[in-house]
Amino acid sequence: MKIIQYFLLLNALVIPLFTAQAQNPFEEPKNLQVLPETVKGDQLRQLMRNFSFATGERCTYCHVQVEDENGARMDFESDDMETKKIAREMMKMMGGINRDIRALNRGDDHQYTRVVCTTCHRGQANPFLIEQVMDSQIAEAGTDAAKAKYLELKERYYGGHTYDFTGFTLAEYANSLINGGNIEDALEMAKFSVAEYPKEAYAHQILGNVYMQQENYAAAIAAFEGSLAVNPDQGFVKGLIEQAKEAMEQ
Ligand code: HEC
Ligand code: HEC
Repeated sequence: MKIIQYFLLLNALVIPLFTAQAQNPFEEPKNLQVLPETVKGDQLRQLMRNFSFATGERCTYCHVQVEDENGARMDFESDDMETKKIAREMMKMMGGINRDIRALNRGDDHQYTRVVCTTCHRGQANPFLIEQVMDSQIAEAGTDAAKAKYLELKERYYGGHTYDFTGFTLAEYANSLINGGNIEDALEMAKFSVAEYPKEAYAHQILGNVYMQQENYAAAIAAFEGSLAVNPDQGFVKGLIEQAKEAMEQ
């Protein structure tokens, strides 16, 4: 899925270059406000491709396409798109972050990690984490909608860097709902994480945690045992089973 998506994006990036007017907009950029004037040609082209891949969007997301007697062409110079202006602010913000990181002065032989657009964006224009998507889905439409959204995104993005589809992250998200005091939603999402990732020991453990909160000790023990069935080498989970048994006897 992911590969097809990149392929389509890649094709989309090529077309505007050929429909642009005779004059090559990369050789003589006229409206660079953040980039230094020396950036042009292949360097500018590569930078713009990076912007596209980082946001998962085509050139037309930030640049206007105009129709005139010569047909459709790109007006890269124009600042009519709001997204282009936001992208400029992003470039400045990123420069600031990288300067701040350098200012940590971690010594001459320290190899600094440079923040780039992809560090945050990971192929989406609004770089949400999967946990944030779940939060807004639950708030707007409930856990069934959240589960459906999760499966839809997983189908589309699995294997890429846009969202984290590990069982651990989904289970930990369910756990965060317990700590947020939303026990019904936590139960739904913990069951979902076990169903989606039956081989993730942590998912079973979190389901057990939810049942503990609900004082459903028999179900908690079954869930903790499910965790041990996946990975028997968990002393901590054995301790949780003991706790559940003690609580049951009280
Ligand atoms: C996420 C937004 C974004 C995307 C996507 C994007 N650009 Fe840009 N582009 C910009 C911004 C912002 C500038 C201006 C940079 C500055 O002011 O220093 C710019 C400048 C340019 C320029 C120079 C225009 C001039 O005359 O000053 C060209 C050419 C260009 N982009 C081509 C492209 C092409 C081709 C693509 C698709 C491969 C693309 N851009 C994708 C944001 C974007
Ligand atoms: C430190 C993290 C971070 C970095 C680095 C970053 N961005 Fe963003 N960007 C964000 C966040 C967060 C948002 C969403 C802001 C919001 O909620 O309105 C965003 C929003 C945007 C948007 C608006 C999307 C929309 O449709 O509303 C554009 C365009 C964009 N970024 C481009 C870029 C480009 C190009 C770069 C690299 C030069 C970049 N960003 C670097 C975090 C980042």
